[in-house]
Amino acid sequence: MSCDYFPTSLMLLYNDNLIGYCKISCVPNLKDSCYIESVVIDVGYRSQGFGSKLLKGAEYYMKLRGIKNVYLSTKGQENFYEKNGYTICEPINMWDNRTTIITTAPILINNQTQIFCGPPPPPMPEYSPTLSPIITSKTYMTKRI
Ligand SMILES: CC(C)(COP(=O)(O)OP(=O)(O)OC[C@H]1O[C@@H](n2cnc3c(N)ncnc32)[C@H](O)[C@@H]1OP(=O)(O)O)[C@@H](O)C(=O)NCCC(=O)NCCS
Repeated sequence: MSCDYFPTSLMLLYNDNLIGYCKISCVPNLKDSCYIESVVIDVGYRSQGFGSKLLKGAEYYMKLRGIKNVYLSTKGQENFYEKNGYTICEPINMWDNRTTIITTAPILINNQTQIFCGPPPPPMPEYSPTLSPIITSKTYMTKRI
């Protein structure tokens, strides 16, 4: 484990050797959700259940921190994730809904000068995971943990 907050990286050790790695980020747009950015098992240790073990450990780690939904995208590893309980879902957009807070209130300098910021920016469009036009060749998958 690299740190106690997201994003974080988890490592899988076998006989003190690092054989697996997993990176997890939060999804700012979606409540109680994380995104698995990568799952890698050392090529010499594949097809022995280590990938599934790493994924389960990552899910356990996320669940302890209140995460309820896990997302990921893949190209070619759909079988592996299906085997581990993931189902295909709509692509998600991680970042659309970020908001910048710009104040329009007067700012006092030396208790006298008032500076007014410009007019407020137009409202951000409503975020909807199904409406975001994401063009991708990857398969998005999700699991409720
Ligand atoms: C995907 C990966 C993490 C799986 O790790 P693993 O230790 O082999 O996983 P497990 O042994 O728990 O499960 C293997 C099962 O997943 C599926 N699977 C794994 N790799 C697969 C592949 N390349 N194509 C299709 N199915 C695959 C198979 O069902 C396989 O079962 P089998 O080996 O009995 O046929 C590993 O192959 C890897 O590191 N790949 C390179 C990095 C990568 O592509 N990561 C995923 C990014 S989305």
